[in-house]
Amino acid sequence: MSEPMIVLDRVSRSFGELCAVDDVSLEIGAGEFFSMLGPSGCGKTTTLRLIAGFEEPDVGRVMLAGEDVTLVSPRRRNVNMVFQDYALFPHMSVAENVEFGLRLRRVARDQARERVAEMLTVVQLEGLGQRRPAELSGGQRQRVALARALVNKPAALLLDEPLGALDLKLRREMQLELKRIQKTTGTTFVYVTHDQEEALTMSDRIAVMEGGIVQQLADPRTLYEQPRTAFVAGFIGTSNSIRLEVSRREGELAVMELDQGMRVVAPDPGGSAPRLRITVRPEKIRIGGSSNGAGSRIRGQVVERIYLGSLSQTVVEIATGERLVVHELNDDEAAAVAPGDQVTLSWAERHSLIVDSDDGPQREERS
Ligand SMILES: Nc1ncnc2c1ncn2[C@@H]1O[C@H](COP(=O)(O)OP(=O)(O)OP(=O)(O)O)[C@@H](O)[C@H]1O
Ligand SMILES: [Mg+2]
Repeated sequence: MSEPMIVLDRVSRSFGELCAVDDVSLEIGAGEFFSMLGPSGCGKTTTLRLIAGFEEPDVGRVMLAGEDVTLVSPRRRNVNMVFQDYALFPHMSVAENVEFGLRLRRVARDQARERVAEMLTVVQLEGLGQRRPAELSGGQRQRVALARALVNKPAALLLDEPLGALDLKLRREMQLELKRIQKTTGTTFVYVTHDQEEALTMSDRIAVMEGGIVQQLADPRTLYEQPRTAFVAGFIGTSNSIRLEVSRREGELAVMELDQGMRVVAPDPGGSAPRLRITVRPEKIRIGGSSNGAGSRIRGQVVERIYLGSLSQTVVEIATGERLVVHELNDDEAAAVAPGDQVTLSWAERHSLIVDSDDGPQREERS
């Protein structure tokens, strides 16, 4: 990463007994699209407010563009925030709304007009400058809010669930639009959402939060392919979690033997945990497949089969009582199975992802 634009250095913030942000450290690069993802109440908004300066940390430091801003007021931090409800001024035109921030900074009239026109082009609202917010669609209003937040070229834009009020189709369009605007302007975006698909679509990197801590911070592919904890595995994608006794360790592999020659094989995480928790993604599992060979194979009973158009979803209950979701493309190879059928599931050893073991959950490592 180039010089970080935003640094949180061991930041905590409590409200009474409740620790909303618990010893969080992270660095956000200049020009990065960075997301914070997690369930309601996990501390996303509080973290954003700490960056904006609306909240002061109990301990820790906040750095912006290399400068310690922990005690600097929000107005003196070169960041802007966009909220879910846009908060446009209803009595002002679109152009006046966008110009507002420049007026506060006493930017000369001509220069301000030019900047406003430029921003309306970036958000593709040319020609709508004279309308009132009430005469716009939800998506257009969102664009005005963005133009207004970007017009004075902040070092970073902080967005708190900005698409929450839009319907699904518009939301999808605006996701791509936001990404385009972020690329065009080169502004650092810090984006808060509880929608995993949204975070995966837009982000360079994502911090997955739970209970005030960052469980894992990585790019979208790494979070999906190598989740570190059961929580991350379940929050991003389907978790398919199985917990098994380790029978033996063979070189790089941990082998968990089951009845009748069945077994689960996983890359050995090291240590000596007697049990491991494993996750396997639905599209990595085959129904049927080899009954010998190196990988995992496990028997179970089909409890549900759903046709989803391009794929079929099969839910299989295994001997431990746990259920695995399997996704298969509906091509000519797709297995013909029905509820009640006994099936063997198989997958390659590299697809057994160790989430937490009995050593306890792993926390995000400090660099
Ligand atoms: N001003 C406050 N006073 C007391 N408790 C607060 C305050 N602000 C936040 N909290 C609590 O801190 C925790 C984290 O809140 P925060 O708003 O950061 O969550 P969030 O991840 O943004 O959730 P959501 O997805 O629902 O917006 C919550 O339990 C919340 O109730
Ligand atoms: Mg919030």
